[in-house]
Amino acid sequence: MKIGTVTVEPAVMNGACNIAKTIDDVKEYAKTSVGAITVGSITVQPRDGNAEPRWFVGDGYALNSFGMPNGGIEFYRENLPEMIHLAHDADKKLSLSIAGFSTDEYVQLASMAESAKVDLLELNLGCPNISVDGVQKPIVSFDREKMIEIINAVSAVTVIPLMVKLSPYSNPAELKLVADVLTKSNKVSAVVTSNSFPNSTMNVDGKPVIVAEYAGFTGHSFLPIGLGQVKQFRSILPESIQVIGAGGIETKADVELYKQVGASGVQATTLIVRDGHSAIERLF
Ligand SMILES: Cc1cc2nc3c(=O)[nH]c(=O)nc-3n(C[C@H](O)[C@H](O)[C@H](O)COP(=O)(O)O)c2cc1C
Repeated sequence: MKIGTVTVEPAVMNGACNIAKTIDDVKEYAKTSVGAITVGSITVQPRDGNAEPRWFVGDGYALNSFGMPNGGIEFYRENLPEMIHLAHDADKKLSLSIAGFSTDEYVQLASMAESAKVDLLELNLGCPNISVDGVQKPIVSFDREKMIEIINAVSAVTVIPLMVKLSPYSNPAELKLVADVLTKSNKVSAVVTSNSFPNSTMNVDGKPVIVAEYAGFTGHSFLPIGLGQVKQFRSILPESIQVIGAGGIETKADVELYKQVGASGVQATTLIVRDGHSAIERLF
């Protein structure tokens, strides 16, 4: 697939997650057949992430509330050059997923990515698992004014092709409004859909399996929802904006299903968090 000026072949990537943050993680993906390696999501400040347990594998699904543990902007300023080098040596692109706590933080992270010359930039607009002072951070996917503010501000400081990663929309009318905003911005090269479904919970033996109050729902049961998001976005967005499918991908057949509804490429996450980096080879 071609995202802006950047070709990603094969059009299969790892999704942003807790095992996509370090040089060692990049080395692991470099051994696989992915066309691009996603690093992130990263934040300005270093983060330990949320308290444990923060990961649960259920029957056909998973719950997570990692809270984006990562080394922060200075760690990536230092380490991205080697990560890019490792990816390029393996004939792969390097995509960086960034998550700001404000528009200014998205801009700081995008400027750092621009200096490092990553190949692709993914704006994480859909993380449900972040609280500030005990209050859940609003999810930008559901705030179109904020979304466009961030896209405009980031585009002013970088020429790297921009991807936006969105939460799933249960309201088709809202999905259409978001597609319209992205189209009119004329600044987005790809939409990645979907991030995890917010605010899920599960008890086992009467106890919550995740210590945070709520968690993101992902995994194979998510497949029909992800396919539905891709099909809707593909039917509305112009051809210049690629739609990258994410959600529930475990097999080659799942990748094929995403292609059938119009995805140009795919990302898989629960598969690798559960079974390890190399599990992504099952998609080739
Ligand atoms: C453990 C875990 C951590 C994740 N962390 C991030 C993240 O930091 N940034 C992001 O944009 N998405 C994150 N996601 C969402 C995934 O990239 C993906 O969009 C979602 O899980 C659906 O795909 P899947 O069913 O293949 O997991 C995370 C998902 C999981 C399971």
